[in-house]
Order: sequence, then structure tokens, then C-alpha cells
Amino acid sequence: MKSIGFLGVGHYVPETIVKNDDFVARGLDTSDEWIVSRTGIRERRVAAENEATSDLAVKAAEAALKNAGVSPSEIDLIVLATSTPDHLAFPSTAAIVQHRLGVPMVPAFDVSAACSGFNYALTVAHQFCLSGAAKKVLVIAADCLSKIVNWDDRSTCILFGDGAGAVVLGEVAPGFGLLSSDLHANGAEATSLIIPDGGTRQPITPEIIAARTNKIAMNGKAVFKLAVSVVGPSIELALKSAGLTIDDLDLLIPHQANYRIVEAARERLGIRENQVFMNLDKYGNTSAASIPIALSEAVSTGVLKPGMILALTGFGAGFTWGTNIVKWGVGK
Ligand SMILES: CC(C)(COP(=O)(O)OP(=O)(O)OC[C@H]1O[C@@H](n2cnc3c(N)ncnc32)[C@H](O)[C@@H]1OP(=O)(O)O)[C@@H](O)C(=O)NCCC(=O)NCCS
Repeated sequence: MKSIGFLGVGHYVPETIVKNDDFVARGLDTSDEWIVSRTGIRERRVAAENEATSDLAVKAAEAALKNAGVSPSEIDLIVLATSTPDHLAFPSTAAIVQHRLGVPMVPAFDVSAACSGFNYALTVAHQFCLSGAAKKVLVIAADCLSKIVNWDDRSTCILFGDGAGAVVLGEVAPGFGLLSSDLHANGAEATSLIIPDGGTRQPITPEIIAARTNKIAMNGKAVFKLAVSVVGPSIELALKSAGLTIDDLDLLIPHQANYRIVEAARERLGIRENQVFMNLDKYGNTSAASIPIALSEAVSTGVLKPGMILALTGFGAGFTWGTNIVKWGVGK
């Protein structure tokens, strides 16, 4: 079997920083102390009014292509994970990005799996590469949750941020790259984290806009419990299917939702604090983008080194969750 791995990584976050105290200044009944102690988040990036998901995605993709030394003309598939497409339903954000990057008229499509989107997109792209249907794939995860959050709901608006991360997948030396994946969904928990209205179940009306039920609604406690219950087992399952154990794991890059969720998983797995890469304090929860943004920073800061065994673990609305195990490096 061919070994498929990461030829390059990149990310982009919008310029505007919203600090915890900025919510207080806007009149929201919250505090920096509450947000930091419950979540670990200190600030997040927010897209400009005229900035959409594809704008972030294009910049992250350009950075990943540059990092890989791969030109847009070599890309033969784009898989883009997002829950906040530029346009409702169609066209796909992937198609918009394909045109703007100058990638040839190859397949390009969106994947919807909320905050697990990067794990889903990566696994789909991996299968295309393994089958020989694609050689070099651009996998992008981009979200602008600031556009779908209710900025007056203190239980959700403080959690989320905007950003994009991208990787170029292709053939690497034997034994390197993606070793296994573990993906799950449990639709019984669909309402725990949901945009209730504005879709085909309940198309948009002036009443919906007034009630803001076309914005994120979340049962925080339920989501917290679900996340804690799935992260550890998913990592263990993915390691097992790669023929590895927790003792082989060098670095965990979890979805950056809440440091207490990650701490619970870390304690269950019995791994050290310095084996977990976190940048949640700077960006908040950027949904599908959080793992590739963290991956890009782990590479650029030298935390992630060739030969390391890496776990990428996501969880989010659906409820969806999953892990990819990687032996980092191209093995050249
Ligand atoms: C959202 C979350 C931080 C709330 O923390 P919590 O300890 O569960 O807090 P609770 O929901 O029990 O709320 C406790 C109190 O704080 C209040 N509160 C909620 N948000 C607040 C805020 N931003 N500032 C101050 N108080 C807040 C609540 O209204 C509640 O007040 P009450 O007791 O008077 O009713 C936590 O549930 C969480 O992180 N869940 C997971 C969310 C997540 O990661 N989602 C994305 C997954 S991909």
C-alpha cells in the first residue's frame, strides 16, 4: 500500500482580535475570569464584514501550497471542510476556492461534519489518494462562526472564532504519513449543538430572524459530557488500528474547543501536558479549522518533528468525532 502524508501545511486567521474584556465592554454579562476559567479562551479572531469563508480558505491554501512547494496546477482534488459556506447550499465553497487559486477544473467539494470536518475531509482525501484517483490533494478546513453566532448569547458567543487551515496530501516515503483513521457520528445527539431554523426543516422567516433561531444553539453541558466521553476512546481505537499503543504517541493535536475537555482526555489517556498542543487561548474554537491551524503552528514552532507519532482528534455537532494517526514527515 502507498504511504500518503502531508507535503505542506498552512493557515490563516483574520486580523481583528476580540478579547474577553471586549465582550464586557459591549455590555455582555460575562468576565475574562469566567471565560478563561471555564474554557481557557483569552481571545479569538473575527472576520471582517466583507470577509467570507472562502477568503480565509484561499489564504490558508496558498500558505500550504507554498510550504509544500507544490503549484496549484499539480492539485487534482480539493476537499474543503466547513459548516459556514459562503453561500447556503450552493455553490460549494470548494468550487469558489478552486477558481480563485487557479487550480485546474478538478473535482472540488465541501464536507460537512462541523468541528470534526478536518478529520472527515482528511480521511476522504486519503482514500482518493490510496485508490489512485488523486495524487496531490488540497484539504482545507475553514469556518467563520462569527457569522452564525448570536452575539448576545453569552453561553455561545464567547466560545467561537474564525480561521482556516490547509494541508497538501500526497505520496510520502513508506511508513510515513496517515496510518489510520477512526470516524463516528451519532445523530441522536443532533439537537445538542444545532442551528435550529433557516434550513429546509424550517425555512427562514422574519419571525426566525427576530428570534435568532437561525444562529447557534447549544446545550453546553451535554456537549461537554459527549466530548469527554468520545475523545479518549477514539484516540485509543485509532492507535489500535495503526498497530500502536498510547506509549507510542508523541503528540496530540485536539480540536481546540475547551481546555477542560482536553484535560479530561489527557488524564484518561495518561499522557503528559507537553504531549498536547494547544493554541485555544489565542483563537477560541474555530470549528473545522482548529486542528489544521494548530498543526500548522506545531510545525512552524518546531514542536512537531519528523518521525513523531501524532494524533489529530476532532469532535463537534452531529454529534461527530474522529481521530487520524500520522507518522509525521515525508521521509525524504
Ligand atoms: C459552555 C460552557 C463553558 C459552560 O460552562 P458550564 O460550567 O457548563 O456552565 P453552565 O452552563 O453550567 O452555566 C453556569 C452559569 O454560568 C452562566 N454563564 C454561561 N455563559 C456565561 C458567560 N459567558 N459568562 C458568565 N456566565 C455565563 C450560565 O448562565 C449559568 O448561570 P446560572 O447558574 O445562573 O444559570 C461548557 O458547558 C462547555 O464548554 N461546554 C462545551 C461547549 C463546546 O465546547 N462546544 C463546542 C464543541 S465543538
